[in-house]
Amino acid sequence: MSRVIVVAGAGSPSGQAVVRRFTELGDTVVAVSRSGRDGALAVDLQDAAAVRDLAKRVEAEHGRVDGVVHLVGGWRGSKSFAETSLDDWDQLHGLLIRTLQNVSLAFEPLLRASENGRFVIVSAKAAQKPTQTNAAYAAAKAAAEAWTLSLADALKGSASAAAILVITALVHDGMRAANPGKNYAAFTDVDDLARAVAGLWDQDAAAVNGQRIDLTA
Ligand SMILES: NC(=O)c1ccc[n+]([C@@H]2O[C@H](COP(=O)([O-])OP(=O)(O)OC[C@H]3O[C@@H](n4cnc5c(N)ncnc54)[C@H](OP(=O)(O)O)[C@@H]3O)[C@@H](O)[C@H]2O)c1
Repeated sequence: MSRVIVVAGAGSPSGQAVVRRFTELGDTVVAVSRSGRDGALAVDLQDAAAVRDLAKRVEAEHGRVDGVVHLVGGWRGSKSFAETSLDDWDQLHGLLIRTLQNVSLAFEPLLRASENGRFVIVSAKAAQKPTQTNAAYAAAKAAAEAWTLSLADALKGSASAAAILVITALVHDGMRAANPGKNYAAFTDVDDLARAVAGLWDQDAAAVNGQRIDLTA
């Protein structure tokens, strides 16, 4: 039976790679982005009511949800700790935390009902190793991780799991073509990320639940 996978933030190269991967695997993919470009559904994931409507719509159309891949990102930094802008924090809170809260709260009942569900976020090394130039970003990612671990606790005992994939940065072919001299060794290719996301189904939910999986190791 093909799975029903929701990709939240599907418009970026990483989102497209994840959509491509699950489509190739024969799954039903519900791609969501802010703009709705390239066939995605246009939903503002910062709007809790809109996300609840999305969950109801997916349940009505597909009967269930087996995977939610949260890929809404964004980055803000500063030259020094003292120059950190709290406007940046507000932006990152909306993008990295509020969208995650809305999506996880709306889809948790469907994931708990799934026979083999997965919820995943993509976090950054910075969450556990903040520097003075990325205080807002690192704190937002740390909050997103803690939130996801709370979801994992809620899913304990069900057939589903929530997990965190950790990277330093992403790279795709367009970046390599634009900057051929750059060393992307520390970066994770979006296709490898997509493989790692799909690979979360290779282990039992209990083994995956609450794990922080470092893709750079
Ligand atoms: N890129 C990196 O180097 C890096 C490093 C560490 C961690 N990560 C994490 O990896 C994941 C993917 O990163 P990325 O850089 O590929 O993502 P990204 O470019 O930041 O993703 C943007 C996607 O999210 C959508 N989006 C933004 N706000 C939204 C909203 N309010 N409602 C609905 N959709 C919204 C955008 O929609 P539109 O397409 O309509 O604009 C787009 O599809 C993120 O969790 C990010 O934090 C990335």
